Amino acid sequence: MLHSRFTILLSLAVACLADDYRWPSPLYDTLEQLLYEGRRADGSSLASLVHPCRARPDTNASIAAEWLRFAFHDMATHDIADGSGGLDGSIAYELSRAENFGVAFPSTLSDFEVYPNKYVSRADIIAIGAVFAVSTCSGPIIPFRGGRIDAWQAGPSGVPEPQQDLQTHKDMFTRQGFTTSEMIQLTACGHTMGGVRSTDFPAMVPPGPDTLLPVFHDFDTTTQFDNVVVTQYLDGTTQNPLVVDSNKTLTSDLRIFSADNNDTMHSLSSATAFASTCQNILERMINVVPHGVTLTNEITLLPAKVHDVQLTFEKGIFVFKAAFRLLQTQSSPINKQRTVKLLWCDRYGKNQNCNGNTRTSVPAATIEEDPGLSPVTQAQGYSFINYNFVVPIDAAGSISNFWFEVDEKDGKGPTSYKNGGDGYPVVQDQVLFVPTLSKAALVKNTTLTRRGGGAPITGLVKQYTLVAAVRSTNASNSRIYLNALDVAISGFPAPFNTTIDLQRNSSLPSIGGYDFYSGVLADTGFQLTVDINRVEADGTTYTDDFKQTTDLDNTPYVAPTNVTSTGKSSSSKSPAWRALDNLHTTQLVAGAVLVVGAVMNSLL
Ligand code: HEM
Ligand SMILES: *[C@@H]1O[C@H](CO)[C@@H](O)[C@H](O)[C@H]1NC(C)=O
Ligand SMILES: *[C@@H]1O[C@H](CO)[C@@H](O)[C@H](O)[C@H]1NC(C)=O
Ligand SMILES: *[C@@H]1O[C@H](CO)[C@@H](O)[C@H](O)[C@H]1NC(C)=O
Ligand SMILES: *[C@@H]1O[C@H](CO)[C@@H](O)[C@H](O)[C@H]1NC(C)=O
Ligand SMILES: *[C@@H]1O[C@H](CO)[C@@H](O)[C@H](O)[C@H]1NC(C)=O
Ligand SMILES: *[C@@H]1O[C@H](CO)[C@@H](O)[C@H](O)[C@H]1NC(C)=O
Ligand SMILES: *[C@@H]1O[C@H](CO)[C@@H](O)[C@H](O)[C@H]1NC(C)=O
Ligand SMILES: *[C@@H]1O[C@H](CO)[C@@H](O)[C@H](O)[C@H]1NC(C)=O
Repeated sequence: MLHSRFTILLSLAVACLADDYRWPSPLYDTLEQLLYEGRRADGSSLASLVHPCRARPDTNASIAAEWLRFAFHDMATHDIADGSGGLDGSIAYELSRAENFGVAFPSTLSDFEVYPNKYVSRADIIAIGAVFAVSTCSGPIIPFRGGRIDAWQAGPSGVPEPQQDLQTHKDMFTRQGFTTSEMIQLTACGHTMGGVRSTDFPAMVPPGPDTLLPVFHDFDTTTQFDNVVVTQYLDGTTQNPLVVDSNKTLTSDLRIFSADNNDTMHSLSSATAFASTCQNILERMINVVPHGVTLTNEITLLPAKVHDVQLTFEKGIFVFKAAFRLLQTQSSPINKQRTVKLLWCDRYGKNQNCNGNTRTSVPAATIEEDPGLSPVTQAQGYSFINYNFVVPIDAAGSISNFWFEVDEKDGKGPTSYKNGGDGYPVVQDQVLFVPTLSKAALVKNTTLTRRGGGAPITGLVKQYTLVAAVRSTNASNSRIYLNALDVAISGFPAPFNTTIDLQRNSSLPSIGGYDFYSGVLADTGFQLTVDINRVEADGTTYTDDFKQTTDLDNTPYVAPTNVTSTGKSSSSKSPAWRALDNLHTTQLVAGAVLVVGAVMNSLL
């Protein structure tokens, strides 16, 4: 019942958004993918660590509880008066403090370690972690905004501890910007999952026979995000150690929950009131950020999304790759008759901007995604279907923009998805990343020191050879360089952030009007991304932005499919691409591309 109400609200949000979102919006696109697909670009899944409402295998701890508490502890140092602290990832450097004591914090930090990148800060991951934690254990969906900025050092302290008195706690929450009633709400919304563990508080929870294994005394009798923590408190059946412990110094929940004569606790006693109050107050919690940080608009689920777009060379063929993601309502069957095609216009020549012919792909295969990719999408009743395209491009004509045609085969004809207007733009074709010629090799192990204490970590130094294709015209007068960024480094010592110039690589012969440039760099992080730039003599800059390197060696090759060219009065199928079958060496294919280009032009 709860879910259907949220679904209606979110469906409205999806409908509104369709009017102002335009691709490409790399910040939005990247945050949206992590939140609604639960994974980063190479498929590595953050959501699956916690979803569905998982326990940690070695300790049986609720991972959701650990993640939610982690977000609170990072936020809890905020000072509303001077704008310092807040959700800024500084907790990564604060784990040796008594207020952040226990094994849950380093476990959570390491869960999150590989996910931050140029567009998603560690603090945004902590916030998304809280959103996942609540929703995967059947709590409400907390609206998410991105744009948090990471601190790369420890900040002030100030997380509440159970032995402190009520006035101290009230003062701490006032400093963070919360009233007494909001303090009660936040604490009840936090203490609905997980509990107190023997390894952290042996005075409250006696250790078991194996003192290394934590014994848990949960805050309530369910593992779900629900109002039971409130109802059991009010009806006197609670076993919450922070309420019932015999040492009254430690019963901080009792002091907090009864701080306003139980008024707030009574207001939280119904399931719906608990869910909606927690949705609001936890949204406020994750949006507490240092002064000067501006959050994005809410990141809502895109009903149709373009992703993994790349114009590049593969096996010597100039190809355009794009994936199109549609929503599938989980309660209804997939339309197996549906066809989805990619269409595009040439960038140059007589077919420029589809003045002559429009190019059309064959329909792509339907790829049904696991409905459990992200708890947030699943809770809204959706899953995803993807259509992946790889098409050959005539380098002389290149590509200026593209769109998709979806035909449900219901007699109504195809629907075009055109990015709310003129199609999805191919922003530039002057400098292009070439993943299939690039490589990453593990060269040696190295020892990394964690900031804020803890054992040193063995890190891996990876050496990358990165290759770009550069359109030949004027290339010799241009500067070709890349910015490499990796913020996902064990212990978060500092971002790896470097710029290198790429040099013409003579072992890679020019193909179809493109020259190949390369450069080498070494990095110890987990998620190196590169922006490849070309600056012309007149200062004009072209950029292939935010290219992933994590899957350089394991992305399966997919051959380009056939293309149809449709003019205003004629239609012709191009058999030219058959010529490319089974060609593998660069030299042969280099020749073939030119031939194909010629054949294609002669056909039109
Ligand atoms: C005065 C305020 C608070 C105090 C004194 C407090 C104290 C504690 C203590 C002592 C534990 C047990 C930790 C352990 O055994 O390692 C705990 C667990 C927890 N706290 Fe709080 N807390 C407060 C507020 C909050 C808030 C506002 C949230 C989130 C909104 C929160 C979320 C959690 C969660 C989810 C756990 C369970 C962690 C797990 O099972 O791993 N707490 N808290
Ligand atoms: C985790 O919980 C299960 C079920 O309660 C139990 O069988 C198992 O022994 C526990 N494992 C650990 C490591 O505590
Ligand atoms: C109660 O807990 C406090 C804080 O940990 C501790 O200082 C005190 O000694 C405890 N009292 C008893 C009677 O155990
Ligand atoms: C609040 O509720 C608790 C649990 O039912 C009860 O023990 C306590 O006396 C109440 N406090 C006040 C001030 O009503
Ligand atoms: C790095 O260390 C791991 C384990 O310590 C070892 O298996 C691996 O071979 C080492 N790699 C290199 C390149 O030294
Ligand atoms: C190449 O450079 C020349 C001289 O700077 C300029 O006039 C011309 O427009 C450039 N051509 C392209 C395709 O950018
Ligand atoms: C990386 O370096 C560039 C150029 O110096 C700078 O603009 C950018 O803010 C840096 N990014 C990070 C995350 O440090
Ligand atoms: C040129 O490219 C080849 C193939 O990727 C690579 O093995 C080689 O290291 C590159 N040379 C330089 C100087 O970067
Ligand atoms: C491409 O088109 C040709 C000619 O129409 C056809 O023979 C071939 O089977 C097609 N290839 C694929 C992969 O569809």
